[in-house]
Amino acid sequence: MTIYEIITKKKHNVELSTEEINWVVAGYVSGSIPDYQMSALLMAICFCSLSDRETTDLTMAMARSGDMIKPETGGFNVDKHSTGGVGDKTTLIVAPIVAACGVCVPKMSGRGLGHTGGTIDKLESIPGFNTEIPYEQFVANVKKAGLAVAGQTGSLVPADKKIYALRNATATVDSIPLICSSIMSKKLATGADGIVLDVKVGDGAFMKTYDDAEKLAEAMVRVGKLAGRKCVAVITDMEKPLGRAVGNSLEVIEAIEALKGKAPSDLMEVSLTLAAEMLFVAGKGTAEECKKMAEEAVSNGKALDKLREMIELQGGNSDVINDYSLFAQPKFSKKVFAPEDGFISGISCEKTGLISLRLGAGRQTKESVIDFTAGIVFEKTVGDKVVKGEKLATLYTSTDCDINAISNEFADIFSYSVKQNPCPEKIVKKIIKGY
Ligand code: URA
Repeated sequence: MTIYEIITKKKHNVELSTEEINWVVAGYVSGSIPDYQMSALLMAICFCSLSDRETTDLTMAMARSGDMIKPETGGFNVDKHSTGGVGDKTTLIVAPIVAACGVCVPKMSGRGLGHTGGTIDKLESIPGFNTEIPYEQFVANVKKAGLAVAGQTGSLVPADKKIYALRNATATVDSIPLICSSIMSKKLATGADGIVLDVKVGDGAFMKTYDDAEKLAEAMVRVGKLAGRKCVAVITDMEKPLGRAVGNSLEVIEAIEALKGKAPSDLMEVSLTLAAEMLFVAGKGTAEECKKMAEEAVSNGKALDKLREMIELQGGNSDVINDYSLFAQPKFSKKVFAPEDGFISGISCEKTGLISLRLGAGRQTKESVIDFTAGIVFEKTVGDKVVKGEKLATLYTSTDCDINAISNEFADIFSYSVKQNPCPEKIVKKIIKGY
């Protein structure tokens, strides 16, 4: 067996055997298969895809590439994972809500990928916050506070760690079997009893069409079921950025505001739906009771208390919750104004993510260093009426990027109509239960 033969097979759309898939994953993790050959195979998978059997084999080979853990928290562990979006700060809202309702959330999260943001990058914008805590501390924190959010350690799913970074740099992210195996390998290796998947669909998601999002959701639920986990997928809209903030510290601030009961309605709808599904999967009550419980955890302040507790246990400065000036502050800002009267009929979501990345909020190469202050805050969103000269958004950065040139490009991501669209996109589109 050689990697050259395996790349050639996949290039010609021939199914790979279980042995070949196991051999590739082991070889890439050990370093005997170099990045350039793995990149070629990933690109062949992007074009020719994988069968259900190959996807399951790849997921299992990746999950087994490192330690398989089962956090002994003493309770039912629920995990949540998003397929990646723009302005998607739901983990920061949902995990504290669910923990406040008495369900454990030991959460291993990822970094930004392509034009989408990552929870670990967002959390690291909190001064002092440590996302690389030892496993024993991670479990102890969950036992104490009900939640902990950390990055994957090197010993957990090293195959995904390496492949994820490579995909990010080789434009091989948007493939259903690669996304499925990446997400599900992590979920299976981290031993959650219940898994709630937020499958994003639309311009800002990796899945641009509803059909693809549904296929991805069904593939992940199928793999979860095969592995004996209670798994549910929620398909949610990513046709426009979620909420109003895009960028690391800007999104943490918006999540804190959400836990203070001041979130934009789209962000709150997605967050409460995911939280309710997590509570339901954990057997906390009927669907209605779980939704009510999640809402109450926000209105009575208990979810915000959980976020504070988590920040403190992971070494962060929890005073940021009441004083946003404690986050690093951007050096430069630029306002963008409406060029005409009308209604905003669209905001290109992928371009928003790419512009945020160019401002410094994401990585252009594997080695890029993130500017936590960079990003965008929207004043207006899809469906809003605007008059010429009204403020649409503000861009922020502390890097030496050309913010004026970027703001001119940014102005083009808005589209306008004379009348308001009477049928706005549904935010939560479908819930697929695998149990
Ligand atoms: N999130 C992941 O963890 N992996 C992907 O491939 C995409 C989103």
